[in-house]
Amino acid sequence: MYSMLLHSHSGLRWIVLILLLLAVVNNGMKWKSGKAFTDKDRKLNLFTMIFSHIMLLIGIGLVFMSPKMKIGEGGMNEVTRFFMTQHMTWMIVAIILITIGNIRSKKLIGDKVKFKAAFIPYLLALVAILYAIPWPGRGYGGGWY
Ligand code: HEM
Repeated sequence: MYSMLLHSHSGLRWIVLILLLLAVVNNGMKWKSGKAFTDKDRKLNLFTMIFSHIMLLIGIGLVFMSPKMKIGEGGMNEVTRFFMTQHMTWMIVAIILITIGNIRSKKLIGDKVKFKAAFIPYLLALVAILYAIPWPGRGYGGGWY
């Protein structure tokens, strides 16, 4: 079960990153060029949010199952500290930003306003996620997929 969650969490990062990048570029370009906000634009923002929520759910499962989340007798090591503080905090902030961006863009009226409402929080979320991923080489034991 742990291994299944870990592999899903690790692999799904690419889906989240690709969707988020597409959504940022789409919202940013159409906001600037004054295009109409269509159902396709709404769906891209929505699917990005759904996948980020799936990551949150799997992440919560990992918090309870991961050996990296167990505090040993000597206290927290570097890896545990990274996942408990940086990784969790920035990922949750990013997911909240994506959720706010999606809801505001859906509710607000006016094409430009809708694109802008999603673009800014989605861009900030992308930066936070790229920063908080335990990329190989950072020393936290994360893989590429
Ligand atoms: C979009 C959001 C997220 C992304 C892209 C992401 C990405 C990743 C990646 C790439 C790893 C390393 C997997 C590996 O070893 O190959 C990881 C590990 C982990 N993540 Fe996330 N994560 C996200 C959100 C979260 C959240 C919200 C939580 C907690 C509530 C969480 C908890 C964990 C834990 C505990 C591990 C360590 C698992 C282990 O190696 O045993 N993640 N995450």
